[in-house]
Amino acid sequence: MDISEHLPQFDLPVDRSGISSMKWDVTDGELPMWVADMDFRTAPAIREALSGRVANGTFGYTDVPAAWNDAVAGWWRRRYGMDVDPGHVTFTTGVIPAISSLVRSLTNVAEKVVIQPPVYNIFTNSIVNNGRRVLDNPLRYADGVYSIDFDDLEAKLVDPLTRLMILCNPQNPSGNVWSADDLAHIGALCAAHDVTVISDEVHCDVVRPGVVHTPFAAINDVNRSICVTCSSPSKAFNVAGLQSAYFICDDAGLRARAVRGVNTDEVAEPNDFAVFSTIAAYTASDQWLDDLCRVVQRNKDYVAARLDADADELLRMVASDSTYLAWIDCSGLLGRVGDITAERFCEHLRERTGLVLSYGGIYGGNGSRFLRMNLGTCAGLVIDGVRRLLEGAASYARR
Ligand SMILES: Cc1ncc(COP(=O)(O)O)c(C=O)c1O
Repeated sequence: MDISEHLPQFDLPVDRSGISSMKWDVTDGELPMWVADMDFRTAPAIREALSGRVANGTFGYTDVPAAWNDAVAGWWRRRYGMDVDPGHVTFTTGVIPAISSLVRSLTNVAEKVVIQPPVYNIFTNSIVNNGRRVLDNPLRYADGVYSIDFDDLEAKLVDPLTRLMILCNPQNPSGNVWSADDLAHIGALCAAHDVTVISDEVHCDVVRPGVVHTPFAAINDVNRSICVTCSSPSKAFNVAGLQSAYFICDDAGLRARAVRGVNTDEVAEPNDFAVFSTIAAYTASDQWLDDLCRVVQRNKDYVAARLDADADELLRMVASDSTYLAWIDCSGLLGRVGDITAERFCEHLRERTGLVLSYGGIYGGNGSRFLRMNLGTCAGLVIDGVRRLLEGAASYARR
């Protein structure tokens, strides 16, 4: 699909002003392409389900019905071939509320939690804010490709204070989809050293057409027995504001501790819209999601090609199979101007062109040489964003 080929449900601009959108809280003329939500209206079935719920007019306490568990289990079976027992799915008010709670219920104060930077920055908050310690297993990066340093991972897992690993599958910000071999290797090492795995799979539904996400827990019985899988319709269906997520856990003992934790922390009860939107997403929105994946890939292909052709080797987009995020390697530009990090360039972009991106340094690891650009938006804004990015890089290189 070419950027000139438009799908109306994704390419007609959507006005997000006046709704307190975090992303669009910018000044006139600025173009926000940072926080990970999309500018698309969500799937029609979700909007209909929410309208129907609003029409009822009563907004009391909501139970999580069996239809919700069935919808989640059906989704994982249909899309990823993973056999999920509906009774093993637990509602939570967000992926991060779940992860923070799991850190508390599965580890003790001062114990260590392994993460693989550059990775979603809020994992660190979930660990540190609960008095636990971060143990980094930085990803390797060579020739534009990320991979796992398994020797270093094992060294971190051997530490007797390491109790938990938070895996990002697929990885935010790089968009890496981990292979079955990688996931089996992680599982074998964690099992050998008695380390539980939280697999955050919130980005798993947005993949390059033709690529199928592999859930960590679906690899084998070892992985399944040591894992809590966290996910949500929030990224794929653009419903982050509805605060609807869940975890799946098959091991009875682990699940008991996890369920007790989220209930004690009071993050296991839904708001009125969470249940209905998730059922609609997971039972009646497959086609919308498949179209979204085509549009996201179109946008990513366009940005990668424009940077290859027009960025004078200052910027390069990391190739990836998942997420609507472009992870942009600024090494060429930094080498040209003698900067160590991309932070000043990120500021320059905003001041000079109004383009608002995320500075990669917040994700740790080698992220300080990168910027993250959110491509979950219409063709017109993607083209505008790239124009600003190229103009910003050229003017920065001339300084
Ligand atoms: C990997 C990852 N996990 C979790 C979240 C946030 O999830 P929630 O809004 O459900 O807490 C994000 C948001 O960008 C994310 O990228």
